[in-house]
Amino acid sequence: MATRIDGKAISQMVKDELRERVKKEKIEATLAVIQVGSDPASTVYVGNKKKACEYIGIRSLAFELPEETKEEELLDLVRELNDREDVDGILVQLPLPAHMDEDKVIQTISPKKDVDGFHPQSVGALSIGQPGFVSCTPAGVIQLLKRSGVEIEGKECVIVGRSNIVGKPMALLMLRENATVTVCHSRTKDLKEVTRRADILIVAIGKPGFITKEYVKEGAVVIDVGIHRGVDNKLCGDVNFEEVEPVASAITPVPGGVGPMTIAMLMNNCVEAKGIQ
Ligand code: GUN
Repeated sequence: MATRIDGKAISQMVKDELRERVKKEKIEATLAVIQVGSDPASTVYVGNKKKACEYIGIRSLAFELPEETKEEELLDLVRELNDREDVDGILVQLPLPAHMDEDKVIQTISPKKDVDGFHPQSVGALSIGQPGFVSCTPAGVIQLLKRSGVEIEGKECVIVGRSNIVGKPMALLMLRENATVTVCHSRTKDLKEVTRRADILIVAIGKPGFITKEYVKEGAVVIDVGIHRGVDNKLCGDVNFEEVEPVASAITPVPGGVGPMTIAMLMNNCVEAKGIQ
């Protein structure tokens, strides 16, 4: 039976370390959070980010813009925040309304304040091993593995999913940790054959319960990045937890696995941002 990797406890540890550091080094960081419209899930995420800022001692500024805001108005606000010396990090909550071009908005954020790590310059820096902000969810997965004592170097790591926010940066980070990395996706042939090679299997495909025991090698470490609300209103991941837990050596639950790490790593990026300005 697998060990459960406790993302809640590990994220609390990361936040406590940051809180100590902010206090000891008297770091005064400010995060600006922009939300356009009132998507209920986004409102919950933004609320959690504000709470985490408060806990750590980061000032947060909230900008709530109506759904019908013009793209140019949002871009003007981002440019204004880029120029403000009292703002260290800028986060535009996604998804944006359909009439806005997300790529354009992300590219307008100064790479120095890009605490989400979504700017092409941040992604490019990661790909060539230069310093820059790293996307929070994949950075959180690395922390989960390291703080659970999972050795990464030399291991076969298979990532299912190739999104810009998770799959691709995840592959780059695992490479940086000296894993042998394979990235799979919806067009991969014989997906089960490939995933069964994994010592560390990281799943971010956005399909509830997709990974069953046939996809997993005995003793593999399984990291589930997915989060869905099931028909029974319960949260579940991309991995069929009940089936895979007996096969794996360690596994992240949903909720309480990768999810809480994303905010902890965002807080880490905000503290780091202060040192960059
Ligand atoms: N929407 C869902 N997750 C995220 C995230 O990590 N950052 C931003 N900006 N928007 C999101």
